[in-house]
Amino acid sequence: MSLLGDPFALAATASLVIQIIVLVVLLYGYSLKRRNKFRQHGTTMLAAVVLHAISIFAVMVPSFFSGFSSPEAFDFTSILVITALIHVPLGIIAFVLGLWIVASWHLQTDLKPCFKKKLVMRSTIIIWIIALLLGVYLYLLFYGAVLLG
Ligand code: HEM
Repeated sequence: MSLLGDPFALAATASLVIQIIVLVVLLYGYSLKRRNKFRQHGTTMLAAVVLHAISIFAVMVPSFFSGFSSPEAFDFTSILVITALIHVPLGIIAFVLGLWIVASWHLQTDLKPCFKKKLVMRSTIIIWIIALLLGVYLYLLFYGAVLLG
């Protein structure tokens, strides 16, 4: 099987690329906060939330539900299933929190409400990075052998 010949593998690879971009955008957004560029930090995090939403709804949700058709999906001793069962809720929590943070800001010039969300932002970025790294690991579990040929 080649990655290019399999539509699921191709979609998962596109999602992987988006997830890696999200990770880079998150780290860049964090570096902006460290340089006190709070507005640019906010807009960068907004871009990360939008990209994350695209990869969730275009690829991960369809792939998750198609996975239920396989009996292996219920093998709770499999590292793949366990990783997926941690990745999915963490990804959803990061998405909901990220969406709430950027939606409650809605690009206002007054950043005071954002300062109050410092703790939730910190938790969100940690949960989000763990979910993204688990997503990369899941991809390698699924397609690592194909990549190695
Ligand atoms: C998903 C969205 C976001 C994430 C994951 C995120 C993440 C973070 C992180 C990790 C910090 C450092 C917290 C710390 O020092 O412990 C921070 C600080 C900050 N963020 Fe965000 N952020 C997000 C969205 C936003 C938005 C929309 C704004 C609005 C402009 C914003 C404004 C700020 C400000 C003002 C601080 C400094 C808080 C302080 O030092 O008291 N952030 N953010």
